[in-house]
Amino acid sequence: MDKAIKAPQCDPPLRPAEKGGWDLEIPIGDLPKPLDFPRVFGRTGPVEMEVGSGSGLFLATEAANRPDTNFFAVERDGAEVRRAKDKWRRRGLLNVRIVKCDAHYLLEEFVPDNSIDSYIILYSDPWPKKRHHKRRFFQPRLLPTLERTLKPGGTVRIKTDVTVYYEVIRELLGGAPFLRLEHDRRLDREPDPDDVQTNYQRKAIEQGHPIHAMLYKRTTSGE
Ligand SMILES: C[S@@+](CC[C@H](N)C(=O)[O-])C[C@H]1O[C@@H](n2cnc3c(N)ncnc32)[C@H](O)[C@@H]1O
Repeated sequence: MDKAIKAPQCDPPLRPAEKGGWDLEIPIGDLPKPLDFPRVFGRTGPVEMEVGSGSGLFLATEAANRPDTNFFAVERDGAEVRRAKDKWRRRGLLNVRIVKCDAHYLLEEFVPDNSIDSYIILYSDPWPKKRHHKRRFFQPRLLPTLERTLKPGGTVRIKTDVTVYYEVIRELLGGAPFLRLEHDRRLDREPDPDDVQTNYQRKAIEQGHPIHAMLYKRTTSGE
């Protein structure tokens, strides 16, 4: 049976984030399984999942720009989760939730079939040492999860400043028949005025790193 959510059920309009903090961070033990997004956000609507949200700068901008979309973040570092919540609370964001846990665990155990409109994965840790490759987010176990959880037409937005990891991602996702590469850009060479920065991206640009930006789309049957 689903675990009961401790916080009151939200009815639209969403409760202000200032009223407590539960409505921003959901303890993993309180998360309904399967994850019931309308219940968690208090409304239906598109759901975008940011994996490894760090200190939350990307969603501070993106969620403010798109108030009709529900953004769910997963980040395993508690200090980063606190920084993100502080940022989002100061900005009065109502359409963001975060859970502190491992992303593969969340996606595999909680996220229902056909429930995600977009995954956003920005500057995922590349774990360059071979013995650490199993810690990467982009690894073969991700593919069945993406196939199961992404809605038809849903997208995967990725940025990385590590070319070796970029090649790993291209090879992995290129082998997924349910995904189609929509674009693959170098933002350091052709900056996009609408691009939303992250903390990590700022540092990468200062250091002169390449900025690879890819967009994949889940194909629908027959495409
Ligand atoms: C290099 S940082 C990038 C942070 C942010 N996306 C940015 O661009 O500034 C990678 C983040 O992903 C988080 N992370 C790495 N692996 C994760 C996993 N398996 N589950 C959840 N978070 C993870 C790390 O804790 C870290 O905050």
